[in-house]
Amino acid sequence: MRAVRLHAVGGPKNLTVETVDAPVPQPGEMVVRVRAAAFNRRDVFITQGRYPNIALPAILGSDGAGEVAAVGDGAAGPPIGARVIVDPMLCWGADPRVWGDDATILGMPQAGTFAQYVCVPARNVHPAPEHLSNESAAALPLAGLTAYRAVFTRAQLRKDETILITGIGGGVQTFVLLFAKHIGARTIVTSGSDEKLERAKALGADVAINYRTDADWHKTARKAGPIDVVVDSAGGETFARCIEIVRPGARIVTYGGTTGDATVRMFPIFWKHLTIMGTSMGSPQDFASMLNVVNAGKLEPAVDSVYDMENVAAAAEAVERNTQFGKVILRIG
Ligand SMILES: NC(=O)c1ccc[n+]([C@@H]2O[C@H](COP(=O)([O-])OP(=O)(O)OC[C@H]3O[C@@H](n4cnc5c(N)ncnc54)[C@H](OP(=O)(O)O)[C@@H]3O)[C@@H](O)[C@H]2O)c1
Repeated sequence: MRAVRLHAVGGPKNLTVETVDAPVPQPGEMVVRVRAAAFNRRDVFITQGRYPNIALPAILGSDGAGEVAAVGDGAAGPPIGARVIVDPMLCWGADPRVWGDDATILGMPQAGTFAQYVCVPARNVHPAPEHLSNESAAALPLAGLTAYRAVFTRAQLRKDETILITGIGGGVQTFVLLFAKHIGARTIVTSGSDEKLERAKALGADVAINYRTDADWHKTARKAGPIDVVVDSAGGETFARCIEIVRPGARIVTYGGTTGDATVRMFPIFWKHLTIMGTSMGSPQDFASMLNVVNAGKLEPAVDSVYDMENVAAAAEAVERNTQFGKVILRIG
């Protein structure tokens, strides 16, 4: 099969398309013929050497959509030929509150979806939403799962609340907006790009603030509040400012630290009785619930662009430049 491999860190240019052996399913596993895959920041961080426990060579890619190609002994799930997507959270564990010690993410160390075939436990294979193309379905798994858990399982956002979504250009954050609008919550989004803010408004964002041109963007957001919930992955100064501007009793959820660590003031945390929550990916229950919401609302993931697998390095460089709004997709020929 053709697959994208990374042999050494050094950036997206090191991603090469090669011919390798196709996987054979072991008992309890399924092989999926991947038609489309999606990039996550993780894939680019791995090429750059900015990710823990990098094991090379590796086939990257956590998100994939396609059809079931082969089924191992005793593997229950969609039949051969069924259109499916893959839950990239492997071995979450028994506790829905937190992943266990054996949890890993598909796409390094386990061979990922940037390949014509991927082999995963059958329990990670789910019917693809019928209203979505392979490209749109591939946008869903990792980012949709992370956003679902952040918005609903952790923050428990309600429709009468206002949520601040920082850095709306991020793949996960576009899903946070999608889910928040789906239940009718009021949304405030920030971005460093006016163009991305316009696209967010077209998706229903109620208030849009440019954090580059508005030095006091957090005060502008506070005036547009009161802010009940924040979902952030920028970290650093952005996270610290969010603590200052939320209303008493607010919940702040973090799933990333793109700009680094934060130094925060303690006073607003205890004086306002804030709840600060971490989250990462999601449990099998979160994935199933996320799919239910996407199917019920016929929700459409934001897809920025689609590249052929042979152009994988260009796709990864686009993610590295951070100009995308929503997901960058690889079409697997
Ligand atoms: N824990 C998990 O399970 C998990 C899952 C997925 C991702 N992550 C992490 O979450 C982060 C985002 O990943 P992603 O793939 O969703 O997004 P992404 O596509 O990598 O985009 C990152 C976004 O961060 C925003 N940003 C950068 N600097 C900012 C600042 N100073 N203030 C506010 N926003 C800023 C930008 O938004 P604008 O372009 O709009 O300015 C950018 O689009 C990464 O650090 C990733 O590793 C964690």
